[in-house]
Amino acid sequence: MTPDIRPLVAGNWKMNGLKASAAEFKAMIEGYDDDLARRVDLMICPPATLVLAFAQMAQPSELAVGGQDCHAEASGAHTGDIAAEMLADASATAVIVGHSERRQDHDERDSHVRDKAKAAWRAGLIAIVCVGEAEAERDEGVTLDRIESQLKGSIPDDARAANLVVAYEPVWAIGTGRTPMPGDVAEVHTFIRDKLSARFGEDEGGRMRILYGGSVKPNNAETLMAVDNVDGALVGGASLKADDILAIASAYRQIMG
Ligand code: 13P
Repeated sequence: MTPDIRPLVAGNWKMNGLKASAAEFKAMIEGYDDDLARRVDLMICPPATLVLAFAQMAQPSELAVGGQDCHAEASGAHTGDIAAEMLADASATAVIVGHSERRQDHDERDSHVRDKAKAAWRAGLIAIVCVGEAEAERDEGVTLDRIESQLKGSIPDDARAANLVVAYEPVWAIGTGRTPMPGDVAEVHTFIRDKLSARFGEDEGGRMRILYGGSVKPNNAETLMAVDNVDGALVGGASLKADDILAIASAYRQIMG
């Protein structure tokens, strides 16, 4: 938690979800009641094929829909890619950029991620910029160096609290059921907060949301979300089930009292 920051729980469906998943999504909309919506923003980032349909289903609830990646250009000869403008046109309000699976599978570097974040802003979307160390980097004790260079390289200079969310996702915690100790999460998140405040000023940097991602589940959400400078979660596997993502968001009922 950070005082005065409205938390965000975002679900990253990755390459999962068909038309038939609409039933599960409907249960998410129904479960995101007024009490929950008062406490926490909720967003689902389905595969691109479902963005428009889900965004239309979500109306008039406050549940937001986002994309999982975008191209840096607004249009052109880039077969298979999706422009931020297309996501915005499909009523997405945000896009994840620089997820470790994109960095790994598509050889995306910090400079690509930075260009994608700029594209998100050009299209009026919030950019959710992902950073995180590999297991070998944690073992070598270079976690903070790695995070610092990713923040520097992946976040454009004109970031503002209204259009940037940073997601800290240790690569070794993604899909493994393993999570860092709360003290380790606090160390990295406080480090990220300090870097954002130093670069963008106390006012902007102090209000940017910093999400934790990597094996967030209903049974660990309250512990992780209560950590200093953790302003929500980026959830993979557990975001596919309405009961699980709603239980994770509901951690804020306990934390906020
Ligand atoms: P899991 O929650 O499945 O570990 O995935 C985390 C993630 O990569 C979210 O972007």
